Amino acid sequence: MDDPQQLQEAGLGEIAAATSPDALEVVRIKYLGRQGLVTGLMRGLGALAPEQRRDAGARFNALKDTISDAIEARAVELNRAALSNRLAAERADATLPAMPAAQGRIHPISQTIDEIIAIFGEMGFVVAEGPHIEDDFYNFTALNIPPEHPARQEHDTFYLPERADGSRLVLRTHTSPVQVRTMLKQQPPIRIIVPGRTFRADHDATHSPMFHQVEGLVIDRTTHMGHLKGCLIEFCRAFFDVDDLPVRFRPSYFPFTEPSAEVDIGCSRAGGELKIGAGEGWLEILGSGMVHPQVLRNCGIDPDEYQGFAFGMGIERVAMLKYGIPDLRTMYDSDLRWLRHYGFLPLDVPSMVRGAL
Ligand code: DAH
Repeated sequence: MDDPQQLQEAGLGEIAAATSPDALEVVRIKYLGRQGLVTGLMRGLGALAPEQRRDAGARFNALKDTISDAIEARAVELNRAALSNRLAAERADATLPAMPAAQGRIHPISQTIDEIIAIFGEMGFVVAEGPHIEDDFYNFTALNIPPEHPARQEHDTFYLPERADGSRLVLRTHTSPVQVRTMLKQQPPIRIIVPGRTFRADHDATHSPMFHQVEGLVIDRTTHMGHLKGCLIEFCRAFFDVDDLPVRFRPSYFPFTEPSAEVDIGCSRAGGELKIGAGEGWLEILGSGMVHPQVLRNCGIDPDEYQGFAFGMGIERVAMLKYGIPDLRTMYDSDLRWLRHYGFLPLDVPSMVRGAL
């Protein structure tokens, strides 16, 4: 095929017939490649007589340009077609109904912890945490509960196996050990709350072997019982959202506080229905007291210089009271119907938290 005219027609025909970039590349190599037909023609120029050579050279060059322009144009066409095919294939169908968004629920325990943090956060408390597996010292001894102290029996403690030195770690029976950990590493003023898991070998409608508490601790030079009362009255009224909620401080005993007081809130049980607010009844909701001087000393704080108050509260208990949950054990059943009923949508955060978002 030495005739440039014929070659041009054949080439243009093959270019038009190429339906993919790969097929087009095959055609390009066939005509313009190093062993290609047009390249072959050009190589033959040397053998021609000089007067023929100029004329033929011009024609071959024109042929080469025509073929390569046609290949370029076809490549653009093929790419455009490939793109519109892809666009058509990948087009999202805007008429399809949206997938229903699965809406989870916040567990009442998490919700209650968030609410408690929000209320104490407003009063300037910060959150502190500690380990679930505790040393006897932090869980008991430093809190003025030495070995053989009767309070140890009340805690139904889970002990870990004995270690080589005869000591045993425990699953913390309350969040109070975090008081000790905080005082040992931080100088007053201290103002912390400690939400967290706690463990006791106990199981019935109002007790679970794993449960949650929130501990509070305030230490400063002039902190006194009036601060304890004001802070806890304020908390109870904010948490139960009852402005004139009656709050009563009843003398009690804890080894780590002196004096100690249990805190009750007013309620009525008229018609068998429990209602929180003014009424003839009282409900105990937390323990509190002025931190015992011996506890301060155990934690390297001079009780002649500093004093403070502490409190501890069961989170399940206040959640059950606030949200009318009758049986504590259902909290851990992971029953979806229960969670949909008692759980919270993510937006149900207390207004104080929402305001900060
Ligand atoms: N740790 C106590 C318990 O688990 C609760 C408690 C009572 C904590 C009084 C305190 C407190 O900090 O002052 O029963």
